[in-house]
Amino acid sequence: MKCRACGGEAAVRLEYANLQLCREDFLRFFERRVARTIKRYRMLPRGAKVVVALSGGKDSSALLHVLWRLRSALGVEVEALTVDLGIGGYSELYVGAARALCARLGVPLRVVSLESEYGFTVDDVARRVRRAVCSACGTIKRYVLNREARRAGGYALATGHNLDDTLAAVLQAYVRGDVGALSKLGPALPPGGGFVARVKPLIETPEGDVRLYAEYAGIEYVRVKCPYSRGATSYTYKAALDLLEREHPGIKFQMLRSFLDRLQPALAGARPSAEQLDKCTVCGEPSRSPVCQFCRIRRQIGVRLREHG
Ligand code: FES
Ligand code: ZN
Repeated sequence: MKCRACGGEAAVRLEYANLQLCREDFLRFFERRVARTIKRYRMLPRGAKVVVALSGGKDSSALLHVLWRLRSALGVEVEALTVDLGIGGYSELYVGAARALCARLGVPLRVVSLESEYGFTVDDVARRVRRAVCSACGTIKRYVLNREARRAGGYALATGHNLDDTLAAVLQAYVRGDVGALSKLGPALPPGGGFVARVKPLIETPEGDVRLYAEYAGIEYVRVKCPYSRGATSYTYKAALDLLEREHPGIKFQMLRSFLDRLQPALAGARPSAEQLDKCTVCGEPSRSPVCQFCRIRRQIGVRLREHG
């Protein structure tokens, strides 16, 4: 098996593209595709500061690595932001991996501890709130990441959502008939109303390629599953997508194209605009109701709420 780019020994074969590449050329191919995605969807204007939501897992670690390598070509400034969720036996590993990667690359990193900065942990949520931990945790992460990225002067928050994550989320929202969620699953959301821009530079990259990239680039990431993720339905959706892809190589890309080019434009009207947002009367962050979801979670746990500066 020969590398299509250099003629040397190929290390990987990408069925969907009918392409075989050696390690070096795979890394280049991967990075070029991410750069193309960023340009195609005008994710990052030159001079912008992009804050990478770094968990210490495979996707966000690979994303940080690529963006760091592309930063001068793209003309952007790159920083990393990690939220320490305070999940015992889990968060330490992830925060440790995030620190190690940033130290190795020389990327400025800010770690925000939910416990010391906001007075509670996700373990507290699990103990005291009856609602599904994962969805509360999602709310918490979105809130803290946006707030801290904005405070750091970031133009955009970049997350590691890959092609498979996006398609799994599309299918889940489709099953629920959640039009609002579908309307927000695109590659980029503009800044405004207290939100920094949100971008997904890996949205056109299959999860398997992210795994290979992390391995070839020598990225040490954590593979431990979150103790609260048991039974998460996204795994089933991803397995179904892999089955489809095995039978029909390229179908994942086709699904993404159909979704972004045909369905999303039709759903544009369902996307809540920033102007429709109020401010949370407790914390001042953008909110659809008088008290935002984050503050409601804190209230349920019994955190004494005070104004954050
Ligand atoms: Fe948030 Fe698992 S990482 S609940
Ligand atoms: Zn609030």
